This record gives sequence, C-alpha cells and structure tokens, in this order.
Amino acid sequence: MKEELDPNRIPRHIAIIMDGNGRWAKKKGAMRIFGHHHAIKAVRDAIEGANNLGVKYLTLFSFSTENWSRPKEEVEGLMALLVKTIANEVPMMMKNNIVMDSIGDIDSLPETAYKQLKEAKEKTASNTGLKLILALSYSGQWELTQAARRIAQKVSDGKLKVDDISQEVFANHLETKDIPDPELMIRTSGEFRISNFLLWQLAYTELHFTPVLWPDFREKHLVAAILDYQKRERRFGKTGEQVKP
Ligand code: IPE
Ligand code: IPE
Ligand code: MG
Repeated sequence: MKEELDPNRIPRHIAIIMDGNGRWAKKKGAMRIFGHHHAIKAVRDAIEGANNLGVKYLTLFSFSTENWSRPKEEVEGLMALLVKTIANEVPMMMKNNIVMDSIGDIDSLPETAYKQLKEAKEKTASNTGLKLILALSYSGQWELTQAARRIAQKVSDGKLKVDDISQEVFANHLETKDIPDPELMIRTSGEFRISNFLLWQLAYTELHFTPVLWPDFREKHLVAAILDYQKRERRFGKTGEQVKP
C-alpha cells in the first residue's frame, strides 16, 4: 500500500484525534487506563510512520481542556503516563532528529508533567526533522479566546491598531503561529466530530475518519489515511476546473 503513495503529495502537516482508548479497554474487560497504556504503541507507530513518510509536522491531540472533567483517577493516570512516556521517548526523538513541541495551556499541567515536557522540548530543540506537537490541556475555543485577549491587550497598550487586525495577524496570536495548517486530520474510533480541536486551523483541512480504535492504530492506517487524502480534490472555494493541474 505504501508504494501507492504519491511521494510528491505527502501532507506537510497531519493532525490526529487519538480516540477510543476507553472503548478498546472495555472490549477487553479492562479498566480505561489499560487502554491509555496500550495507546503508546500506536503513538510510536504514528510518529515513526510520519517521520519515514516525510511528514514535517505531526500534531497529536493528547489531552483536551474538557478532559480535565474526567474522573480524578483517570486524569492522574493520564498525567503519570504522559511523564513516563515523554521521558522514555526522548532517546527515540534524538535518534530520529525529532523536535518536540506543544500547544495548549501547559501551565495547568501538574509540575512533574510540565517539567518533563519542558526538558524534552529543550533537549530536542536543535533537531531539524519532524516536529511533533502535543496538544495538551488544549481546546480550540480556549486558544481562540487566548488570541483575542492577547490582541485586545496590544490594542489597549497602543501597540496594535484595530484596522491592522487581519487574518494573518490573528493567526500569529494562536498557539500554532509558525506552524502551517494541517492538510489532513485523522480521527479514530468512528466518531465524526472535531471535539474542540484546531478550530481555526482546520478551516480547509481534509478530514479522514476511521473506525479503528486508537490503541490498534498502526503505520498501515496512517498510509491508508494519506492515500484517501491524495484522492481528494482540494478546491479552497474555487471551481474544480480552476484547480485542475
Ligand atoms: C482518547 O481515548 C484518549 C483521551 C481522550 C485522553 P478515550 O479515553 O476518549 O476513549 P473513549 O473515547 O472513551 O473510548
Ligand atoms: C478528544 O477525545 C480529545 C482527545 C483525543 C485528547 P474525547 O474522547 O475527549 O472527545 P469526545 O468527548 O468524545 O467528543
Ligand atoms: Mg473519547
């Protein structure tokens, strides 16, 4: 299947809503956290797959603003897993020249998670390959509100004029400034929604939904998603005739 890919049309940026860990565990008669633990193999496969295929940016929705409302044990379990996984994967990232970054309200993370993340970001900062962006304590509405606040502050300080607020200026106040919008967004587990993920950035992204539960996601599923993407005609509001090569 990999041979069917057009190497000239690999998405530069892929974003993934990694969903279905709880249902995966439930099917096995296990606790939800068991599913989260088994999600790590899928994360590794997605990172390695994206890296091998020449993807430049991979954004993984790892923990949403709304996920703080889950039962305390699950939140604590997820945070502990985050710390452990980041620590374990730094050597893999160094070996594969991967840069680690994050979007979201990372100040709200427990201190150990915050520190581990900061350390991994610093260690990998001078790498030049795939940029891996973890969306942590992230939601699109939170991000848009933050951007509005930052812009309003600049206007109130006299540093920015209202008439100068363009789409580009707005985008530069988002968490994703310097990151191109995703060409492809994948959601696993058969849910057909965005769940407050990159609301601004997904404006013209191609969406791929798969019933595969996240812990079962492997490189072949990533390849299938990219193949699906390569069949799409991206029109950006124009007519089909206008965009034909
Ligand atoms: C995704 O799997 C992981 C996170 C949201 C942290 P879920 O935990 O949402 O699994 P389901 O959707 O309940 O099956
Ligand atoms: C979205 O999944 C968030 C992450 C994958 C981190 P959810 O499981 O939280 O989404 P909903 O609640 O089903 O919309
Ligand atoms: Mg879910």
